[in-house]
Amino acid sequence: MANLAENSIKLRNQDNLNTMSYYDDVSQTIGRTPLVKINRLNPYREVTILAKLEKANPGGSVKDRVAKYMIEDAEQKGIITEDTVIIEATSGNTGIGLAMMCAIKGYSCELVMPESMSIERRKIMEAYGAKVTLTSGDLGINGAQDYVRRKVSENPEKYYSPNQYDNPVNWQAHYETTALEILEDTAGHITHFVAGLGTSGTLMGVAKRLREEVPGIEIVSVEPESGQLIQGLKDLKTQYVPLIFNQAILDQRIYVDEFSAECATRGLAMDEGIFIGQSAGAAMVGALDIAREMHDEGRQNVVIVVLLADSGEKYISGSLFSTSETTESMAVKM
Ligand SMILES: Cc1ncc(COP(=O)(O)O)c(C=O)c1O
Repeated sequence: MANLAENSIKLRNQDNLNTMSYYDDVSQTIGRTPLVKINRLNPYREVTILAKLEKANPGGSVKDRVAKYMIEDAEQKGIITEDTVIIEATSGNTGIGLAMMCAIKGYSCELVMPESMSIERRKIMEAYGAKVTLTSGDLGINGAQDYVRRKVSENPEKYYSPNQYDNPVNWQAHYETTALEILEDTAGHITHFVAGLGTSGTLMGVAKRLREEVPGIEIVSVEPESGQLIQGLKDLKTQYVPLIFNQAILDQRIYVDEFSAECATRGLAMDEGIFIGQSAGAAMVGALDIAREMHDEGRQNVVIVVLLADSGEKYISGSLFSTSETTESMAVKM
């Protein structure tokens, strides 16, 4: 053991400064998330399902990409100064991304979300130094958006809201990063893209780039059934429709209930070793639906990329991962 330790110290001392490898700050580690094949959960062996694991981002979700783009866009346009308070209505993950970006760059940050969102999200935002304001859970994200609009209109000098729902930089982040990574990692061999719909930024941005590069690509949104709460996803029938949303970009819309999303979330953890949040479970339900459809039609060479938006840690306090009769393997026997 002593020899090993000595060797490793010697090696470190011999390091050439020219070969040093590090990032200038943690925002540089956003993106380049891995694409991982789904095995035991997929009963349709001839259909390939690849999951893009956005939990690998430093703030733990797909929204780090958007937070970075929106803050840097506001800086480049000279909209914010060091005295600006960044304020945003968020169901959680954009808030975490913004809180992280504000910590890196030294801005004050206030995040507004419905009280129904998990306690972990609040705690994480506060850990990054953000102020968290809660609005009525009954009003959903609409209540949080109304609150932010009021604050900004009362004091436009003090506050800036990136407004992920209406800001085209939201989808541009995905056009320029997420979609390119998918194209590179699949070498363009992709037939379907499936993702949950919240602000719609992921679907709008990825779809636009994939349509330019992959003929015949099918874009599938996953949305909550009416009255079902799947954290991160928006029910467009009852909630404000984001300005960036363009229904024409979607080929198919799949509606998922809470229970199916939770079962798939637990299945991903138990049968694939992928510990993710409930919206990612919902997206997987959508991917499996498409896989079944393709199997029934006898389609060959199908490659479905499904985006799993965040990790499971933020949902521990809820019932998602608590033991119940539904917590059992969903895997097909290999
Ligand atoms: C957990 C989770 N899943 C899915 C989404 C939806 O992504 P988008 O807003 O790009 O539609 C979000 C958005 O906040 C989210 O937090």
